[in-house]
Amino acid sequence: MKNNPQLNKNGELQHLLTIEGLPAATLRHILDTASSFLNIEEREVKKVPLLQGKAIFNLFFEPSTRTRTTFEIAAKKLSADVINLNVGASSTSKGETLLDTVDNLAAMQADMFVVRHGQSGAPHLIAGHVEPHIHVVNAGDGRHAHPTQGLLDMFTIRHYKKDLTRLRVAIVGDMLHSRVARSQIHALTTLGVPEVRVIAPKTLIPACAERMGVQIYHDMAKGLKDVDVIIMLRLQNERMRGALLPSVQEYFKYYGLTAEKLALARPDAIVMHPGPMNRGVEIESSVADGVQSVILSQVTFGIAVRMAVMSILMGSGAGSKQ
Ligand code: CP
Repeated sequence: MKNNPQLNKNGELQHLLTIEGLPAATLRHILDTASSFLNIEEREVKKVPLLQGKAIFNLFFEPSTRTRTTFEIAAKKLSADVINLNVGASSTSKGETLLDTVDNLAAMQADMFVVRHGQSGAPHLIAGHVEPHIHVVNAGDGRHAHPTQGLLDMFTIRHYKKDLTRLRVAIVGDMLHSRVARSQIHALTTLGVPEVRVIAPKTLIPACAERMGVQIYHDMAKGLKDVDVIIMLRLQNERMRGALLPSVQEYFKYYGLTAEKLALARPDAIVMHPGPMNRGVEIESSVADGVQSVILSQVTFGIAVRMAVMSILMGSGAGSKQ
């Protein structure tokens, strides 16, 4: 953990940039804190005053439905003030640099930046630039990382399966371009999941996959056999360079999750997808909407997990502005 740019000088979590390198205890602390936020929905006032007076800026330089909205809901449930920068209408479109934009927003008394950017490393760049009282959360950068998605996926698996140390998990699809898959694999292996499989055509598996501790399969029939959890990935067409697949129809035939292929997994297997989902490309509608699907629960749990991340970062001792 030495020299981890996510930690402040007291070794506390100052930013959340990646799951890689974070100890299991930190991940469990986030998941446990998220559990404590779930019951807020049952209260008459569905808010807590933990971040009252704090200003959280959502800086989304790439499209988002789930992440941006659930960060906003989570911040509001913590009683923070939320500012959504409309990037298209901001001065970045006039040539202002990312760091100049950040400096100007920091001058408006920002306490936290939640950043999604097409360039891997953009949130790290901002974290290394801002004053120590400001926190940065990576909401997805290029192909690199999507740590809160990885965490909400772990929360979902733990919710349905309880003990992670006895599970077989299969991640299916375009790992090559997927920041989500990288964050999931770091989280699953850190939390002690003994068997993580990646199932994909050779062209969609990065060279680093085996070093990450996963087993690689190219055949769905073998890869899905007896798994407890299936995580489907979207084909990330916007990040593909050149033709990596013969056709979408061919991809669905071999790697799309159908009811027939789902039957190869354990009967109580859950089906997950981080979204956005392409029906008929990576998943059949009957499976996406079926009894084993927990896809919409993932979205709901994302609120509690993002509340946990924001409240833990803002309470990080020396890094906090009093
Ligand atoms: N899972 C996810 O990142 O979805 P959005 O792109 O809608 O935020």
